[in-house]
Amino acid sequence: MELSQQEFELLRQYIHNICGLAISDNKTYLIKQRLEPLALKAGCSSFSEFYNELQKGDTDENRILPQVEEKIINAITTHETSFFRDGHPFETIKEYLLPQLSKTIIQRKRGSKRRKGAKVRLWSAGTATGQEPYSLAMLIHEFTDNPICFPDVVKEDFGLLATDISSTMIAQSMTAEYSQFEIKRGLNSRRLRNFFFKEKEHWTIKSQIRMMVEFRQINLIEPFRMLGGFDVILCRNVLIYFDNPTKSRILDQFYEILCKNGWLILGATENIFNLSNKFKTVHVGETILYQKK
Ligand SMILES: C[S@@+](CC[C@H](N)C(=O)[O-])C[C@H]1O[C@@H](n2cnc3c(N)ncnc32)[C@H](O)[C@@H]1O
Repeated sequence: MELSQQEFELLRQYIHNICGLAISDNKTYLIKQRLEPLALKAGCSSFSEFYNELQKGDTDENRILPQVEEKIINAITTHETSFFRDGHPFETIKEYLLPQLSKTIIQRKRGSKRRKGAKVRLWSAGTATGQEPYSLAMLIHEFTDNPICFPDVVKEDFGLLATDISSTMIAQSMTAEYSQFEIKRGLNSRRLRNFFFKEKEHWTIKSQIRMMVEFRQINLIEPFRMLGGFDVILCRNVLIYFDNPTKSRILDQFYEILCKNGWLILGATENIFNLSNKFKTVHVGETILYQKK
């Protein structure tokens, strides 16, 4: 199927509108390769026809949305991830953030009669297949299992939310099942033994870790303030796909829902230079953390 310049422009604007993804001029192949199978499946013989189908309003009973919209998002977004991705950010969370968060928990417990009020909340935004929040859950489990430093802090004091725009990613994350290839990326043998069990061809995360993570479908280009306050937001390797105005809008919302002195963690190659001046940069070893000013 041919993709004219005009069709490319229309479809990339459509994609930008639904998920924020910015497709550069030299990426026509991305739309052609990834959307052609969807267009054909929808019975369209050209990209223009496909685009017109996507434009049909909510009231049209023949409309192909929203299933196709979901498929477009899945086809066009990148879901690359791994357990303990890049290593050092998780070392920093373990050695630097978890002790600080534990102090926050203790302070909140003293100030709050209701036990719920003491929780610290962490959010993995753009979780893909779930390795990131489950890595956090494993760290928290190990940390609270070792009562030497903070005997009064338990894993129930931590709330973990994981979100993605894609319902397919959320459903896959919730199965907590990983292939041999996936568990080889980032997990040591001790964690594999402690937190997984083998079932036929795949490995499943034990319920003690699974139960620690709540999953929800959230599109970051839409308002998400209703998610409430967070102490730590991880949005790693997600903003790289957006243009600068979209990145700045999302960073503004992160700022708003972070608690006082809350932390933002981006991907190892990302930064907020020229995007937001609302965060203080804190270097811990190789890791850059952004703290709410
Ligand atoms: C490369 S993965 C990052 C996974 C994980 N955070 C990591 O660093 O390993 C990017 C994820 O962002 C999600 N994503 C893309 N656009 C999004 C949007 N507008 N709102 C929420 N999630 C989005 C994709 O579905 C994908 O799962």
